Amino acid sequence: MSQTMLKVSGLRVAYGGIQAVKGASLEVRQGELVSLIGANGAGKTTTLKAITGIQPVADGDIEFLGRSIKGQGAWDLVKQGLVMVPEGRGTFTRMTITENLQMGAFTRNDKEIEDDIEKVFTLFPRLKERRHQLAGTMSGGEQQMLAMGRALMARPKVLLMDEPSMGLSPIMVDKIFEVVEDIHKQGVTVLLVEQNASRALQLADRGYVMDSGEITMEGEAKALLSDPKVRAAYLGE
Ligand SMILES: Nc1ncnc2c1ncn2[C@@H]1O[C@H](COP(=O)(O)OP(=O)(O)O)[C@@H](O)[C@H]1O
Ligand SMILES: [Mg+2]
Repeated sequence: MSQTMLKVSGLRVAYGGIQAVKGASLEVRQGELVSLIGANGAGKTTTLKAITGIQPVADGDIEFLGRSIKGQGAWDLVKQGLVMVPEGRGTFTRMTITENLQMGAFTRNDKEIEDDIEKVFTLFPRLKERRHQLAGTMSGGEQQMLAMGRALMARPKVLLMDEPSMGLSPIMVDKIFEVVEDIHKQGVTVLLVEQNASRALQLADRGYVMDSGEITMEGEAKALLSDPKVRAAYLGE
């Protein structure tokens, strides 16, 4: 079995008195695409924020590459290769596409940054066409591409994506899922959070279902896709 890249054990996260994540455990192995699905408010974003050092962990542990990273800051984690594409993209709206991509490499000081920008442009020709345009003037789909490109500039070992298809037109949703698949095929290990459970599970190797701060189901993505409980609750059947 391949190496465990990310392991979350008994994670609890609270906002003041509100328990948002109540003892969640999950793991992602090298080369996998794992989807975390669940309704709005289930605790998916909070889980990703805790993993990436943005939200403090109240209890439990998070291991990255076999070592506990609990309490480490977001910057250190990006430098180690744990990188998130946040919900709502979070691009720097008053910077150009190219400047946003350069920002994605903020933890690096090697000589291959320009080469990596060209690789992002190969993945997203649209970004190349618009490279001098301000990010804030682009469509939602283009900003999502930019957010993904910017994350790739950090050379992620594990890439966490929070609802990349949210709010996009059907054509853009197709494009974004294609790119998620491409990124995964290039060898990046992915943890994908999505409300579009059907699409997310179709792409994934394995999946987890989160409900009210707890992991309620887990398994091979195909098995979850055909599970009557998952179909009824998350696939609109
Ligand atoms: N900054 C916050 N302050 C207080 N409560 C929050 C905050 N962010 C999220 N929550 C609450 O935590 C729970 C989980 O939210 P979230 O992790 O965003 O869920 P999901 O991403 O699955 O939609 C929800 O009840 C939500 O209202
Ligand atoms: Mg969310």
